[in-house]
Amino acid sequence: QKGSFLEHITIQDSFPIGPEQLEAAAKHTLPEEVFGHIRSGAGGEETLRKNRTAFEKYSIIPRCLSNVSQVDTSIRILGKEYTFPFMVAPIGHLKMVHEEPDYAIAKVAASMNIPYIQSTVTARSIEEVSEAVPEGPKWFQLYWSNNDAISYSMAERAEKAGYEAIVVTVDTVMLGWREDDMRYQYSPLKKGYGKANYVQDPAFQKGLKEGQDEIDSIIENLHHPHLHWDNIAELRQRTNLPIFLKGILHPEDAKQAIEAGIDGIVVSNHGGRQMDGIIPSLEALPAIRKAVGPDFPLLFDSGIRRGADVIKALALGADAILLGRPYAYALALQGEAGVQKLFANLAQEVSVSMALSGAKTVEEVKQLTLKASNYSL
Ligand code: FNR
Repeated sequence: QKGSFLEHITIQDSFPIGPEQLEAAAKHTLPEEVFGHIRSGAGGEETLRKNRTAFEKYSIIPRCLSNVSQVDTSIRILGKEYTFPFMVAPIGHLKMVHEEPDYAIAKVAASMNIPYIQSTVTARSIEEVSEAVPEGPKWFQLYWSNNDAISYSMAERAEKAGYEAIVVTVDTVMLGWREDDMRYQYSPLKKGYGKANYVQDPAFQKGLKEGQDEIDSIIENLHHPHLHWDNIAELRQRTNLPIFLKGILHPEDAKQAIEAGIDGIVVSNHGGRQMDGIIPSLEALPAIRKAVGPDFPLLFDSGIRRGADVIKALALGADAILLGRPYAYALALQGEAGVQKLFANLAQEVSVSMALSGAKTVEEVKQLTLKASNYSL
């Protein structure tokens, strides 16, 4: 730890300090339906709530007297080094909060050497993002398409554009039951905020029916209940990029992913937005780590808000985490500068949390002891 004892207390900027204030500020600023779309979860939001309370069930038992004057936050995943144990979760339709969301986020991620996982449903396409922000690690999140040819085509485009990995989201074969969106009749998809990757795709254009509206066709394509391991096997044949599956929660699915030649998993319940009543991601993590063994790349999301959460997820088996909703709020409030401040603050908080837990490296964080309490909150 460089700097002085009071370094982080004396940071002064106009950015809300802490995730609770950040969310409150976004609520104050954004139109109700937009804030509702980002904040809300599926159904009665049981899983959304549990994603947070799960963190409070685990306590870190810190180590001390271990000379933490140098803390190294870097990680290695599939042979690549990244500076922090967090990545940018794919969030679609961010044009609902900002004019040029994808470039802004990709730029911040590149400046910090953290992977930017671009959603399928962004305002700018794979090619546009890679041209505007050629530097920095970029991964592509793929929503499978009802027309398999589009999925394979998008994967091919990502590989050609120099993306480092494909993240196939497997928990969104249809849209979750989202009552805020129903209440406000709000669909960012219908507004065209996430169409770039489709309209620029040759397989999409080929599949467009005579006179069919592009947005209607995208909506039709996003519904893909047929998704099956056979599709993943086919994708495995077609791309040289590492493939991650996002949304795995059962250890048996994790084992099957390994058998299918998959390179990594994102343990996630989509921030409680897809199926309500399902297990909080954090509680699913230890059994999945056990099932896949110590060296298989495991990423984690759903509920991460601050440094201690990152430490807990790493200690329970994750190699890195994905940050979701908070950066959408930061982008809404202060654009690129807001995202920059949020990630810089998280980086600092992670570093301080590592030091105060007695861990000098991410590998040492993974060895920390957590006490699981069995009371329910
Ligand atoms: C998402 N998420 C998501 N996931 C994905 O694979 N593709 C996508 O396009 C989106 N879009 C999206 C939009 C919005 C508004 C939210 C809040 C989330 C899920 C996202 O990647 C991640 O799994 C969750 O955000 C994690 O939960 P927390 O940490 O944000 O609560």
